[in-house]
Amino acid sequence: MDKMKIYGGKTLNGSIYVSGAKNSALPILFSTLLAQGKHTLHNVPRLADIDSTFLLLKELGCKVLRDGNTATVEVSRPPSLEATYDIVRKMRASILCLGPLLAHYGSARVSLPGGCAIGTRPIDIHLDGMKELGAEITTQSGYVEARAKKLVGGTILFENPSVGATENIMMAASLAEGTTVIENAAKEPEIVDLANYINKMGGRVEGAGSSILTIVGVKKLTPSEHTIIPDRIEAGTLLIAGAITGGEVTVKSCHPKDFEALILKLREAGFKVTTTEDSATVYPLKKWKGVDVTTAPHPGFPTDLQAQFMALMTQGEGTSVVTETIFENRFMHVQELVRLGADITPKTRVAVVRGVPGGLTGAPVMATDLRASASLVLAGLVAKGETTVGRIYHLDRGYEALENKLTQLGARLERLRE
Ligand code: EPZ
Repeated sequence: MDKMKIYGGKTLNGSIYVSGAKNSALPILFSTLLAQGKHTLHNVPRLADIDSTFLLLKELGCKVLRDGNTATVEVSRPPSLEATYDIVRKMRASILCLGPLLAHYGSARVSLPGGCAIGTRPIDIHLDGMKELGAEITTQSGYVEARAKKLVGGTILFENPSVGATENIMMAASLAEGTTVIENAAKEPEIVDLANYINKMGGRVEGAGSSILTIVGVKKLTPSEHTIIPDRIEAGTLLIAGAITGGEVTVKSCHPKDFEALILKLREAGFKVTTTEDSATVYPLKKWKGVDVTTAPHPGFPTDLQAQFMALMTQGEGTSVVTETIFENRFMHVQELVRLGADITPKTRVAVVRGVPGGLTGAPVMATDLRASASLVLAGLVAKGETTVGRIYHLDRGYEALENKLTQLGARLERLRE
């Protein structure tokens, strides 16, 4: 298993381009199952999770070709309507094939995704939504079996604004009979990007980005072409890399409005952050304040930036209370940051970080999940000496060549192939 060795103490400076958004590319890749023919998608990041999705699409009869960051997906009638455990267990977002397969072919058999390090990750909101559209859903021997001669639009109220459930139901409803309204829908930029692609295919999705989503079902969708939006979480991670090392870093080809909550928190901590339409710059600061942060559905502070921001707070002056409201177990990075010398007291949903500027010393640490691994890399950039992050395959799930990007900005790190 690869490791990442980071030599701490380098200040990062310069500008860097972000890749396409993993959490937009995944649902949009699954939405191709709604329309037979050739889809062309640009700015698709090269990530392990994208490779897993290609594998599943191929199992479902698609021809998938990648040329750099462009992917073409040729969809024909799937030989089987089953997403097997072997693939789904590696990437729980595979559950997003349920809606398209059910809507287009009237049935689907998808392995239950199971939990992961950050939480139990149930899919009840997905399944309840499918039932509202008239699907028969049974779960047996670890699989969800869904059937529906015809999906019929209805009104669905989500108990919480689940991103995946909003995407799954939006895709299913796009080919249903009549109109579907989702109340308390997720409002993330990735939801808007998916709606834009479904509309390019001839769908009728209105209200994406607001909490009321209206989908007027159509008879048929036609493949189209689309460019995936920039990854706001990668952009935020790179901005924090500049901030934590006291450098000046500009993140380019991003949408600053998509990670405004982070920008506001950086400014509250004392950083100067300027933005243009498609870039954000953080400026050098020797001392910054510990500030409290609470994760929330978009446009609140993203849970996917909580671990990275916590690394920054370990170097702030004063205390930062970090509250994680989205997932029940998303503090796996805390004990590893403590191994580097951070002073953090975790409770179930709250961690109290007592900032100790310059207080981190390099050590071997272990990545447990995607964003925790990013947090440990950021801490390693400022820890004295060498930090080795194990199980770095977690990082490869969601960051395209992060070590190259950080090296381009002046970091000194290397991947150890084991
Ligand atoms: C998406 O996961 C993202 N993944 C996650 O990013 C992100 O953290 C999350 O949204 C929240 O923003 C992708 O887009 C592929 P949810 P998702 O459904 O859709 C509960 C990363 O690091 N819930 O919005 O699975 C759930 O347990 C990943 O890139 C139910 O109870 O998240 C959680 O507590 C990690 N029942 C909350 O809702 C359901 O049926 C939010 O989950 C579904 C969700």
